[in-house]
Amino acid sequence: MTIIVTGGAGFIGGNFVYYELKHHADDKIICLDKLTYAGNLETLAEAFKSPQFKFVRADIADRETVYKLFEELKPDIVVNFAAESHVDRSIEDPELFLRTNIIGTSVLLDACRKFGITRFHQVSTDEVYGDLPLDRPDLFFTETTNLHTSSPYSASKAAADLLVQAYQRTYKIPATISRCSNNYGPFHFPEKLIPLMIINALHDKKLPVYGKGINVRDWLYVEDHCAAIDLIIRRGTVGEVYNIGGHNERTNLDVVKTILRILGKSEDLIEFVTDRKGHDQRYAIDPTKISTELGWTPQTRFDDGIKLTVAWYLEHRAWWEKIISGEYKDYYAKMYDNR
Ligand code: NAD
Ligand code: DAU
Repeated sequence: MTIIVTGGAGFIGGNFVYYELKHHADDKIICLDKLTYAGNLETLAEAFKSPQFKFVRADIADRETVYKLFEELKPDIVVNFAAESHVDRSIEDPELFLRTNIIGTSVLLDACRKFGITRFHQVSTDEVYGDLPLDRPDLFFTETTNLHTSSPYSASKAAADLLVQAYQRTYKIPATISRCSNNYGPFHFPEKLIPLMIINALHDKKLPVYGKGINVRDWLYVEDHCAAIDLIIRRGTVGEVYNIGGHNERTNLDVVKTILRILGKSEDLIEFVTDRKGHDQRYAIDPTKISTELGWTPQTRFDDGIKLTVAWYLEHRAWWEKIISGEYKDYYAKMYDNR
């Protein structure tokens, strides 16, 4: 089979490329990525050594190029990870999120319609459900929870989900959607909470915790997410949505303190800063459907995964040092200086 992985030079897409190369030696994996600030060919350095793997630099919103590629590559499966993925950036500048996340998805769907595929899989997010209150730990997102978005990022992802469902119904595109909770692990771009805190702590730099640090996220080790998507594209039912999450809820403050403990650093590094606008309070996934229908269960507990992740950042300094010495410096100054 030939699988196009869009956004495969990013965090989860890159991990998914490795997951597929490792578990499906007969498949051809083609990464289609625009290489935005978040895309990094160094993430794919080992993949380039495999004859199963090919990389194409392309923008999923560029219709002409996408059509040419589909005609030439004849993919069986398309897994769409490509997106603008950072909530804080979407609050600063929503438009790019609409172009990539909505128009880009529609171009891919049109290409699937025109050239035919056996499966289009949309990698979505639990953020499309909005948030849950902090004082109702009994509530979880299920696949039938209403879409109720908070940020331009989540609104653009919800719009893409609705397009996928419309194309599935109207044009019979064989599509599936997964909505996962917060991922963490190797190759996570330093703008996101966990890598940002690890890297700041290593530099004895302040750790900027938004608001009071009481917001809750449901953390999933990235390899568990990849395993779930792999199951869905091969055994999931067309037209279905699958929630993915492993009941690893933590407050942001807990996560930051755990990182400091692992690194042997002082909690004095924590600095409470101005809250994110419209900050979602709590995310929590009910993964019953994917567990019962496809037999998926997460393999990595948060307490183990966070140690593995800290160890990865310690062992792969060259990967992130290059990122934080480039345009990321300006991003950091803009978002955090005088916050
Ligand atoms: P990321 O920002 O690390 O990577 C995004 C990748 O997409 C980059 O390689 C980038 O170059 C590429 N890209 C961006 N715009 C593109 C375009 N127009 N054409 C082609 N490529 C483009 O993102 P991530 O954290 O790996 O997230 C991947 C997907 O998973 C996203 O769709 C995101 O919404 C979803 N998701 C993320 C999480 C999470 O915790 N990170 C959780 C659930 C769902
Ligand atoms: O839930 C899935 C989503 O998880 C994905 O769809 C997004 O692509 C992904 O970026 C992530 O979104 P979050 O906004 O939850 O992740 P982020 O790492 O940006 O923030 C996690 C929490 O930490 C959030 O409550 C905000 C807080 N935070 C974040 C940063 C960057 C801080 O307190 N300080 C920070 O500097």
